[in-house]
Amino acid sequence: MIADLREQDLRHHAQVREITDNGTVGDAGTDLRGHWDSVYKTRGVTGVSWYEPEAATSLDLIGQLSLPPSTPVIDVGGGASTLVDELARRGFSDLTVVDISERALQAVRERLGDNAQSVDWVCEDLVAGWRPMRR
Ligand SMILES: C[S@@+](CC[C@H](N)C(=O)[O-])C[C@H]1O[C@@H](n2cnc3c(N)ncnc32)[C@H](O)[C@@H]1O
Repeated sequence: MIADLREQDLRHHAQVREITDNGTVGDAGTDLRGHWDSVYKTRGVTGVSWYEPEAATSLDLIGQLSLPPSTPVIDVGGGASTLVDELARRGFSDLTVVDISERALQAVRERLGDNAQSVDWVCEDLVAGWRPMRR
C-alpha cells in the first residue's frame, strides 16, 4: 500500500513535474488528480500495470496481525484495489479508502454495490497533507 505510493507513484509525480516543467501542463496539483483519473480512464481498473485480482501480500500481512474486525483500516492510495472488498468480506467494519482519483474510488463503489455504504471514501491528495481525523 504505502510502498506502492513510495516506489511507483513518486515516479508518476516526477513525470507530471517533468511535463509541467516543459510547459505542457498547467497547475501541478490539478494535474496530479487529472493524471491519475486519466490513467484509470484510459487503462481501466484491471488494465493498470499494478492490477492484481487479489491483494495477496497486504491481506497476508494484515492476517498475520490477527486484528479484531473492529480495527480501523485505511488503504492509503487504495485506488481501485480489491483489498477493501476482501477486508469487508472478512468482517472489517471500519474501512477507509483514500485516493486522489475519484474515478478509481467510483469504480470500487460500483463494484461493491450496497456494501460500499459501510466504507469511508476520501478523495484527497495525500501529499497536500491529508491526515485521518481519528487515531
Ligand atoms: C500504483 S497505484 C496503486 C493502487 C492500489 N494501492 C492498488 O494496489 O491497486 C497508486 C495509487 O495512488 C494514488 N495516488 C497517487 N498520488 C496520490 C496522492 N498524492 N494522494 C492520494 N492518492 C494518490 C493513485 O490514484 C493510485 O490509485
